[in-house]
Amino acid sequence: MKQSAKNVMLLHSQAKVALYQKYLAKYLNILSRVDFIRKICIYDFMCGEGKYTNGEKGSAIVTFETIKNHYYSNNNSCPPISVWMNDNGMSDIDVGKSKIERVEELQHSIYKPATVQVKFTKYEFIEMYEQVCFELNTMPANTRALIFIDPYGYKDVRPSHLANLLGNQKTEIIFFVPISFMYRFAEKSTSDPTFSGGASLKKFLEELGIFDNDKFESVDVFIHQLKNKFRILFNQLTYVDTFTIKRDAQNTYALFFFTHNETGFRKMLETKWEIDRNQGKGHRLDANPALFSDMEISGYKIELKEYIKSGKRTNHDVFKFGLNRGYLPKHTNQTLHDLETEGLKIIVTSQNGDRVRKSAYYLDDRKISVVIEIKD
Ligand SMILES: C[S@@+](CC[C@H](N)C(=O)[O-])C[C@H]1O[C@@H](n2cnc3c(N)ncnc32)[C@H](O)[C@@H]1O
Repeated sequence: MKQSAKNVMLLHSQAKVALYQKYLAKYLNILSRVDFIRKICIYDFMCGEGKYTNGEKGSAIVTFETIKNHYYSNNNSCPPISVWMNDNGMSDIDVGKSKIERVEELQHSIYKPATVQVKFTKYEFIEMYEQVCFELNTMPANTRALIFIDPYGYKDVRPSHLANLLGNQKTEIIFFVPISFMYRFAEKSTSDPTFSGGASLKKFLEELGIFDNDKFESVDVFIHQLKNKFRILFNQLTYVDTFTIKRDAQNTYALFFFTHNETGFRKMLETKWEIDRNQGKGHRLDANPALFSDMEISGYKIELKEYIKSGKRTNHDVFKFGLNRGYLPKHTNQTLHDLETEGLKIIVTSQNGDRVRKSAYYLDDRKISVVIEIKD
């Protein structure tokens, strides 16, 4: 069999599945400890082959194995989980078999706790989307959902689909796209009406509010703009984050993560920082630091200083400001310490004006409310 990206799982796909797997493990751990939550639903809209010829496991198998591991590391217990695996394609590995049949067979050899229900379908994306929207809209308050959407391109999935899937506020989405490909054709597809190959990209961008006068100076700027446009489309309510996987100088993939939940968002940030210990932004496959543009090299110290200077900020405001820029409390804490070391006067007072312990910012303390100010 000739090896190709369809039957061998390439490094960038391994990186994507690794992020998904790490996040899913955290997601199950947290939700299984919340008394109020009675059920978790996991949807993989385009789950692939299950296992590839180089032995690597795709999102479907990783989902089943993560649930099994959760069960064994939690005293043989697991909350009720429903898993829906879908893929409309024929296998490139087992000729004559559909991908989903292959996934179903592979699943049989993985232990499945009794509380877990699994469903396998070979629907077109749009057919599953309609059914899932219905399920999500009628979902009880004590249920949570995680959706993984991993298409080859961007022709089937549109921003409005994502907005509708997020509508119940109890759903999180991980969405993977070949971003450099989109970036390369973005301007042409929105400005050249004769470019027939760009119709679905044009639709995608226009739903996000990106039109022919929008310009993008690099793939990183493009990702940044999409992120902001998604925020607007989702009425500013949703936390939006991205993770980039740079295969080489020409090929970047982006994973978009959408949630309404602050804890979920924080857990995704932790996952990203575990993978990219330097910047918490992405994964480089060729280890060439020059691939990260200036925009990614953080101006966080300056931004944080400006933010605190420009209004009355509590520890909770500063905590949220950091999260929204992709930084965990420990990073914001360190940045504040660095600013103080550089000679900046940071004053922390309780709500009644008393000074609190020097260099304590209480960013991660939900019970205490203090005011953080910068004095010139
Ligand atoms: C990038 S692969 C998914 C890989 C998978 N997540 C994994 O980790 O192994 C994209 C998958 O989408 C499926 N697909 C493409 N168009 C689809 C559609 N319109 N509806 C459902 N599945 C589709 C393909 O058969 C393919 O398996």
